[in-house]
Amino acid sequence: MKLQATNYKFPTENSSRVFLAPMEEVNDPAFRLICKKAGAGLTYTPLTSPLSPIPLVLDDKPILQIFGGIELLQTSNSKLLTDFFVKYDKKVSGWDFNLGCPASTAKKHCYGAYLTDLETTEKIIKLMRENTKKPLSIKIRKSPLAYKHLKIAEKYCDLIAIHPRTKEQGYSGTPDLAWAKEFKKKSKIPVIYSGNVSQTNYPQLLTIFDYVMIGRNAIGHPEIFSKLTKTPFKKDFKDYLKLAEKYNLPWRIIKFQAMQWTKGERGSRKKRAKMIEAKNLEELKFLFFE
Ligand SMILES: Cc1cc2nc3c(=O)[nH]c(=O)nc-3n(C[C@H](O)[C@H](O)[C@H](O)COP(=O)(O)O)c2cc1C
Repeated sequence: MKLQATNYKFPTENSSRVFLAPMEEVNDPAFRLICKKAGAGLTYTPLTSPLSPIPLVLDDKPILQIFGGIELLQTSNSKLLTDFFVKYDKKVSGWDFNLGCPASTAKKHCYGAYLTDLETTEKIIKLMRENTKKPLSIKIRKSPLAYKHLKIAEKYCDLIAIHPRTKEQGYSGTPDLAWAKEFKKKSKIPVIYSGNVSQTNYPQLLTIFDYVMIGRNAIGHPEIFSKLTKTPFKKDFKDYLKLAEKYNLPWRIIKFQAMQWTKGERGSRKKRAKMIEAKNLEELKFLFFE
């Protein structure tokens, strides 16, 4: 069992160093597959509980991001975590542990950015390491614990992802790039940067960081990956719909994606007004296939 960090590089299929950032409620399996087709080097699942029995679709071979707190270390739960790794390890490109979620549920249950007990954090990451030889990372925010997290990551992980906004900032305000640069200088393992990555700043960011990930700028716009990586790609919501049907995605998610995908398209306002009224997949399809 590998317990030492290495200078591991993610084995991306297209050598693209730009990834789709983990996003709850956005990164469904159909959307992730399309982002990969458009040129994303890797995709992330949204934060996922290893204790949940809901089956996962991982056809895009994503980084599977898990979350949790001290409860993961209870004997019965660490057994569930091991079973989760056995079940999905072959299907993923790597694993990530979320230490950045700022949501109120994270606060209530002491996970994400609210998991501040370093001993528990280290035990969870060690447990993850013992269960996989695939690339392992943690995703953190700017916080007083960041360098302590780095030390733990250097012991067990292959990479570290940073989003240099504090949990108090949530997703607004400017990410602290100067802080992130300093962090990168001090890190012995590769660093993935997250925070307002765009078509404009991405070449510059890739001269500093090993990888970058795109979050909100990719919502409804998988073509951003093709623009950045010069991957031939034709954006067509019908491709998304086909996959969404194949995976039997909930109507709520499909409708959300439809609204996002059409933003910025010429004449799309009218279409969206009709979409709001759509009550099921058939009605939505009619708008796209008519
Ligand atoms: C809707 C939404 C959901 C998110 N869900 C997750 C998540 O499940 N796990 C995670 O680590 N980060 C999550 N994030 C944070 C993003 O991965 C990313 O770090 C952050 O949005 C900054 O990148 P951006 O400025 O490119 O959006 C989420 C962000 C958004 C906007």
